[in-house]
Amino acid sequence: MTHPLKIAVAGLGTVGAGTLKVLHDQSDLLALRCGRSLEVTAVSARNRKKDRGVQIGQFTWFDDPVEMARKADADVVLELIGGADGTALAICETAIASGRHVVTANKALLAHHGTDLARKAEASDLVLAYEAAVAGGIPIVKAMREGLAANRLSRVYGILNGTSNFILTQMRASGRSFDEVLAEAQELGYAESDPGFDVDGIDAGHKLAILTSLAFGCEIDFGAVHIEGIRRITSLDIEYADELGYRIKLLATARRTENGIEQRVHPSMVRATAPIAYVEGITNAVVADGDFIGSTLYEGPGAGAGPTASAVVADIIDIASGRRSPTFAIPAKSLEKLNPAPMELHNGSYYIRLMVVDEPGVVADVAAALRDEKVSLEAFLQKARAPQEAVPVVLTTHNSNEAAVVRALDRIAKIAAVREPPCMIRIEDL
Ligand code: HSE
Repeated sequence: MTHPLKIAVAGLGTVGAGTLKVLHDQSDLLALRCGRSLEVTAVSARNRKKDRGVQIGQFTWFDDPVEMARKADADVVLELIGGADGTALAICETAIASGRHVVTANKALLAHHGTDLARKAEASDLVLAYEAAVAGGIPIVKAMREGLAANRLSRVYGILNGTSNFILTQMRASGRSFDEVLAEAQELGYAESDPGFDVDGIDAGHKLAILTSLAFGCEIDFGAVHIEGIRRITSLDIEYADELGYRIKLLATARRTENGIEQRVHPSMVRATAPIAYVEGITNAVVADGDFIGSTLYEGPGAGAGPTASAVVADIIDIASGRRSPTFAIPAKSLEKLNPAPMELHNGSYYIRLMVVDEPGVVADVAAALRDEKVSLEAFLQKARAPQEAVPVVLTTHNSNEAAVVRALDRIAKIAAVREPPCMIRIEDL
């Protein structure tokens, strides 16, 4: 057996401690699979004394993880701290500059610095591995980069944030409010330290930006991702979605279009019979469409210690075994600038809910705004009627241009009888 692969671990939170546990509990199996043992040599975290349920006394302790990245007796540095810049970035840059491979679970860091870090790592013949950064335990990076390598991908979409999916699932199942269910997700340890990253779509946007680069051979361009979260989704919309035969999901979609590459994260209505509609709770799912394979679906746990550590250790196994692929499927120096498709040019159908006081002429005014913008109505639903009180009116449209719908909604919002800003949810034909 050759010499062990030596590992330094920066960050001993849920993922770091979970990774130490997998490396410890599975050590014999991992040694067999790698043809060499995996040996943790150094660790660094904020609090040396904290009980994490794993032994760390046998490892060299570093107060400063950047110093560890520079000095530890290690072939690989695991960056499991998080954050788009600061310490996490310094650890990765220092590790690469010191000739060490990097494994990270940090999607925010990659969304902002992934192309640059990949170029630096590849220029030094080092690995930057990040399976755990996207969709937790689902091996989607490996699937897209290696399993689907024969294909040109046309579209990749999915449920990339477990917390949001958990909230939407629980809201529908229990009728509880958004805030109540968010608190439960935080207690269960699913949410990011800033839950805004989950519910405002940012976490899913980070992950999508990484998948886009993998799918289309372009530089990561997080700034070009159109992002909307789920805070505005109400129980009322969830009920109407049910009635119309849809489920509401926070979908992340990257697609090649004639206008460029579309990257968008927003609540979507998907047919209740579509496979992705059945993905419930903390589970993530990704669909990748390729020219020879057709459509493929990957589903699994998107968060939590075990699934995320499983992905981190899979990357370590590849490094230990000498298995290499370019970071984003093609050499990082060949990644092209992404040509973003403007959201205004998006075409699709739309669900629109208005809160309207039922007065003569109001429906004609709403219809006129849509007609003037050439937005064609598919269905119109008004059930309740309460004099002087606003009642919900629901419309769905045929395939329409996004900019036209937005203009129509601006005009509709100004109608006196329309009492709340219109709620618009895109309908996704999957
Ligand atoms: N907070 C993330 C989620 C987990 O809810 O999916 C890790 O990315």
